[in-house]
Amino acid sequence: MCGIVAYIGFQPAAPIIYKCLGKLEYRGYDSCGIAISNRDNITVEKDTKRVAALQFNTLPLDGKIGLGHTRWATCGEPSRANAHPHVDCLHKIAVVHNGNIENFEELRKALVGEGHIFTSETDTEVLPHLIEKYYEGELGQAVTRAIKDIRGSFAIAVICAGEEKVVLAKQKSPLVIGLIDKEYIAASDIAALLDYTDRVMYLEEGDVCNITTVGIELYRNGVLTELTEERIAWKPADTRLGGFSHYMMKEINEQPRVITETLAAFEGVSEKLIGLLDPPENRRTSLLMVGCGTSYHSALVGKYIFEELIGRPVNVELASELNYRANVIADKVALAISQSGETADTLQAVRRIKATGCKMVCITNVEGSQLSRLADLSIYTKAGPEISVASTKTFIAQVALLYAICISHANIDEILKKDLERGLGQIPILIRQFLNEQSNIETLGRYLATFNNVLFVARGINYPVALEGALKLKETSYIHGEGYAAGELKHGPFALLDSNTPAIAIVAHDRTYEAMLTNIREIKTRKAPVIAVVEEGDKEVADLVDIVIEVPHTDPFFSPMLNVVALQLLAYYTALERGCPIDFPRNLAKTVTVE
Ligand code: AGP
Repeated sequence: MCGIVAYIGFQPAAPIIYKCLGKLEYRGYDSCGIAISNRDNITVEKDTKRVAALQFNTLPLDGKIGLGHTRWATCGEPSRANAHPHVDCLHKIAVVHNGNIENFEELRKALVGEGHIFTSETDTEVLPHLIEKYYEGELGQAVTRAIKDIRGSFAIAVICAGEEKVVLAKQKSPLVIGLIDKEYIAASDIAALLDYTDRVMYLEEGDVCNITTVGIELYRNGVLTELTEERIAWKPADTRLGGFSHYMMKEINEQPRVITETLAAFEGVSEKLIGLLDPPENRRTSLLMVGCGTSYHSALVGKYIFEELIGRPVNVELASELNYRANVIADKVALAISQSGETADTLQAVRRIKATGCKMVCITNVEGSQLSRLADLSIYTKAGPEISVASTKTFIAQVALLYAICISHANIDEILKKDLERGLGQIPILIRQFLNEQSNIETLGRYLATFNNVLFVARGINYPVALEGALKLKETSYIHGEGYAAGELKHGPFALLDSNTPAIAIVAHDRTYEAMLTNIREIKTRKAPVIAVVEEGDKEVADLVDIVIEVPHTDPFFSPMLNVVALQLLAYYTALERGCPIDFPRNLAKTVTVE
């Protein structure tokens, strides 16, 4: 999704802005641009190029104030004209925007009627023209007035020729300010800032802020307000490839460490959480979980875990669906899961759930994210920045946390509790062993790369793993993968099966085992090749299917955490064979900040 950057300080702005834009590339974009202010002039360069290409192909830009943008097209196709920054008629005001202006058509019509000339198809372009309309010599006041006319979501940064300041405004879309000594960099997320500072300030809904080299003037609800400084725990090296050829592979390999660190950090919040989840009046109430994409899949694993171990009912909802229900049905506590903490659908669902009076717990990877600010209690996955669009390490960290929450929440005998804690603690070791020893997944990836459709099937606690495996395959390799509950095949998908549609069966040694064997036989009968993800030494499945991927033995209760790693690797190698841009798949964005 769109990423914005703004700089003001005493150094040349352009190289800093380009570098920060480079760090936002992972969010997904199709065009980019920069605007630099130098006394009475603003120079804009933009194109449908990569950030490095734009920098390489433009003359050096002189000036210590500027804006940058990576655009993920939502309103108007990717083109030079539609790329940001956008400017007013006199080319004196430049704006970058992340978000969605819902009433732009009526605003545009009115502005055109007043003589403003538009040069793009974007919603954003109404902003520089509105600011121009209200400008009476001070940019901050003009921005404050202009955003009163806007309906929708926005994080904007604005500069004006002749004024030595950057003005920021935020409504629903993310915006953070990095502090350096008398220099300021504002950006859509902290990954952009890591090379420069670990000191940040987060803006809240409705904030407008004027930044000069003297300091930050923040207006909250129109009142001058002090911002509090916070520290980022991530390090610049966390966003580098570190010897891997793709972030996805790097992040898959980080999983053992990520689980260990996530579980260690959870110990600090476990008591607070149990206080919220488990007062006597809550015990029989259902828990609502919401998320999108991969985070939704981890919530589904959570449902199976909670219902299996403690019998507490869990309702899992796609945030984007919940947002259009007439009524939100939530009990006392709900849990939102989001890697970025910035997914617009999830944030909107959280607002709706909170409005019912329900307490909100969130699991997120990004401290200071909007989700963590909305929640009554935040639990953090300690995955570090996840750059690959395809989530891997954050999924496993979310799932590890759900296990930890469930086990600490469970009213079970102490010996069983200790056993489960030990079992969970062993998972990082088993994943490391699997990553070191697995030998056939690369070859299997080459094989899978020849198909157009792949079915992922499982039952019970591994059903969400089938959904996640299918999602990983489609987003990285562009092969149509479909995750299905194995028992549902006979209700329709059997029609798809033939020798050109392989099925990947995820088989755990739990109460679903025999039923899975039956389903595999049924699939084989329809001539579809079957690859099974099984526990090592499972002769019975090995004899039945064409190929097995063996994962180390564990309590089947924890099997999703091993099985999903096998499917992540399979998606990676399949995408590699097909020559796909693994980390940055077409049309996708890492952080989806529009609904
Ligand atoms: C999956 O690989 C994607 N990254 C995507 O489905 C993602 O999980 C979804 O967009 C939700 O993002 P979030 O966890 O940041 O809220």
